[in-house]
Amino acid sequence: MGKKLKIAVLAGDGIGPEVMKQALDVTKAVCEKFGHELEYKEALTGACAIDAYGDAYPESTHQLCMESDAVLYGAVGDPKYDNDPTAKVRPEQGLLAMRKKLGLFANIRPVETFECLLHKSPLKEELVKGADFICIRELTGGMYFGKKQEPVVNANGVEEAYDTNYYSRPEIERILKVAFEYARKRKKHVTVVDKANVLASSRLWRKVAQEIAPKYPDVATDYMYVDNAAMRMIQNPTFFDVMVTENTFGDILTDEASVISGSMGLLPSASIGEYTSVFEPIHGSYPQAKGKNIANPLATILSAAMMFEYAFDLKEEGALIRKAVQASLDANYVTEDIDKNNAHSTSEVGEWVVNYIKKA
Ligand code: IPM
Ligand code: MN
Repeated sequence: MGKKLKIAVLAGDGIGPEVMKQALDVTKAVCEKFGHELEYKEALTGACAIDAYGDAYPESTHQLCMESDAVLYGAVGDPKYDNDPTAKVRPEQGLLAMRKKLGLFANIRPVETFECLLHKSPLKEELVKGADFICIRELTGGMYFGKKQEPVVNANGVEEAYDTNYYSRPEIERILKVAFEYARKRKKHVTVVDKANVLASSRLWRKVAQEIAPKYPDVATDYMYVDNAAMRMIQNPTFFDVMVTENTFGDILTDEASVISGSMGLLPSASIGEYTSVFEPIHGSYPQAKGKNIANPLATILSAAMMFEYAFDLKEEGALIRKAVQASLDANYVTEDIDKNNAHSTSEVGEWVVNYIKKA
């Protein structure tokens, strides 16, 4: 029986609309093939929403997300805001507002290696080969959302500012549960990353983790300081299976992790939580490439695969998208980030994947 898929499409800024078009075409092709009914609506977020509404995540966009079963998200950001610390509204605020309002407390970023791209990794092939782990990043707490003071001159005439790395026990418990449940479906190994030798918030993380771990006796748990984890990830990426950490550490470690596979243009992510889940590539809006039809659409296409699997429990559909992406890589039918000398355009790669799905 076919399902009805109600999707909100938030393409955002920069290359967002170009890569989204390809991911949408792939989604349509999959729905057609498997007899699902696709109902999608588009809405603005990021710089384009600031231009239109003065708000990077307008209420109308939020309503659409709430009414949908899944959100496909492109990227936000515009250089005109990047070097202006005084800007009152910023595209990234839209992303943070969406995370908070949709209760997206878990960000899941798989780090996979593709055999044919191993030589693209900045790390030695023999180190990277076989690396396959997921980072689970807490996404609605910590310094991103704690009490903060923007730069201000204090009573002593000194300018100051601060952020607060606040975490409550329930926030930590729910993200750790996500990590342990994941590990059960994988290699049964969780690494809790913190800075418990220095930070009080990390000591609460570790305390809670040490209480929860014994409830998952089939899962091996280890604890690692974030500085050490940053090093281990480069020295020995195959060590990891499921890594779980707080918002800020996760932000930094997932960028580091993203280059292991050789191209940022290949990695999707899922953000899940209380309301509608969001699926997005981990790369940014790449404004230099906007409108040039050169950006790699595969990360967004793979995000659509995650959407089929996670939001709709349609595993076969997701697997077919992955197979098509793998085939395009094997055929070296790729964008310039992967092969400069033999590059195809964003739309050509998208069409190749769509055709593969139609013929499969
Ligand atoms: C990410 C991004 C965001 C973050 C920015 C754009 C606010 O870097 O999704 O990792 O810091 O969380
Ligand atoms: Mn980031």
